[in-house]
Formats: sequence, C-alpha cells, structure tokens
Amino acid sequence: MERFPAAHKAGYAVYSRASLVLYDALVLGLSNRFLWRCPSARMTALYDRHLSADHLDVGVGTGFFLDRASFPASDPQVTLLDPNAHCLQKASTRIRRYGPRSVQADALVPWPASLGRFGSIGLNYVLHCLPGSMSAKAVIFDHLLPHLGEGGCVFGATILQGDAPRSVAARQLMGIYNRKGVFSNENDTLEVLEAELSRRFALIDIKQVGCVALFSASAPKR
Ligand SMILES: C[S@@+](CC[C@H](N)C(=O)[O-])C[C@H]1O[C@@H](n2cnc3c(N)ncnc32)[C@H](O)[C@@H]1O
Repeated sequence: MERFPAAHKAGYAVYSRASLVLYDALVLGLSNRFLWRCPSARMTALYDRHLSADHLDVGVGTGFFLDRASFPASDPQVTLLDPNAHCLQKASTRIRRYGPRSVQADALVPWPASLGRFGSIGLNYVLHCLPGSMSAKAVIFDHLLPHLGEGGCVFGATILQGDAPRSVAARQLMGIYNRKGVFSNENDTLEVLEAELSRRFALIDIKQVGCVALFSASAPKR
C-alpha cells in the first residue's frame, strides 16, 4: 500500500538517487539561468534574508540552498520534510554539520502535530511540483500555519505560467514536465499565488524574475 496519496507521487518520485546527482547542475545551474531565467543566486539570497535559527525546509531536494545560505546562528535547528527518502538522505548528509531532523511526510496532507513550530519555513520549488490548481495546492499554506511560530515567515520560489515570460525552449520543457506530472503548473499564475497568500497572510512580498515567483509571507490572518 502506498504510504502517501498516489495522486501526489509523480511530483516527488522523479527524484531518485541517480537524478539527484544531476539535479544541482541541470536544474539549479542550467535551467534556472537559461530556461526559467532566475539564477539560483536569487534563491540563495532569499534564504539568506529569511532563514531563522529554527527552520523547517519542505521539499528539500539536494539541500543545496540550506548548504549555501547563511543562518543567523552558528547552531541552527533544521528540520527537513519530504515524502521522498532519497531527498531526505541527500539533504541531511549535505548539511550534517547542523544535525538536521528528517520527517518523511507529504506536505499536501495535514502535517504531523508533533512537528513543532518554526521561525521560518522554506518552500522552494515545491508548489509547481504539486498536483492540482494553485488554489488546491495552496492547502499547503493551511497545513503550515499551525507550525509557524510568533513572528515567523514562510518563503520560497515557484515556476509560473500565465503571462510569465517563457522562451520556446522553456515552454517545451515545461510542457514535457507537465505531461509527466513532474510539474503541475499549467494554471499557476502570479495573480492566483498572490491571492492565496493574501487570503492567509497580512504581509506578503512577491517578485517575479523570469518565470519564477520569489515570495515571502508573514503575519498570518488568524
Ligand atoms: C524541484 S525539487 C526542489 C528541491 C529544493 N527545495 C530546491 O529548491 O532545489 C522539489 C522537492 O519537493 C519535494 N516534493 C514533491 N512533492 C511533495 C509533497 N507532496 N510534499 C512535500 N515535498 C514534496 C520533492 O521530493 C523534492 O524534494
């Protein structure tokens, strides 16, 4: 029996041990700069700005940004959440200097109550991997709200369609990824992302770079 809903699997099953070896060079190196037109340095800067000393990272991939970015403390508490055991293993090994805690969970279903509360929650390049419309996948913001500590902030990046500028090559690769279910962002627009964040948070910031939205949100409306 599947541990998590089968409908969510295509968005995380693609990250095998082998594909994670290529991920940093192909996705964070080539695709970000030349296809999505948002160099990874922009995301490292986002992490630098928003990381707290008690951070939860959701959808951890290879742990690239947690490794690169600067925490505001020398001994931060870092929790990694991902349904994919390969990602958890790769990221936790990479940042073992922080002694991270790993939680194997699907962020689209209610999160374990025992997870705790955090000063920052990262959602980098996760939303465009989740199935459903932006409004449906925004349930992830409802799941994270009880885990956001006083003054806490959620931040991340996601790849958009809609009016976002995309070259022919970017459209083609995005089409392939959507057909395989690796991406599900056919209806993801800046406007809906903004609306879903505004419904839940009083303070939001969204910048579009290429076809990527870099966002942060704090002060939950609860
Ligand atoms: C494109 S990678 C992003 C990795 C990393 N955050 C980065 O920015 O390089 C997507 C990550 O989201 C995870 N993911 C996909 N579906 C998920 C879900 N339903 N819940 C939590 N994480 C998920 C994948 O396993 C993978 O680690």
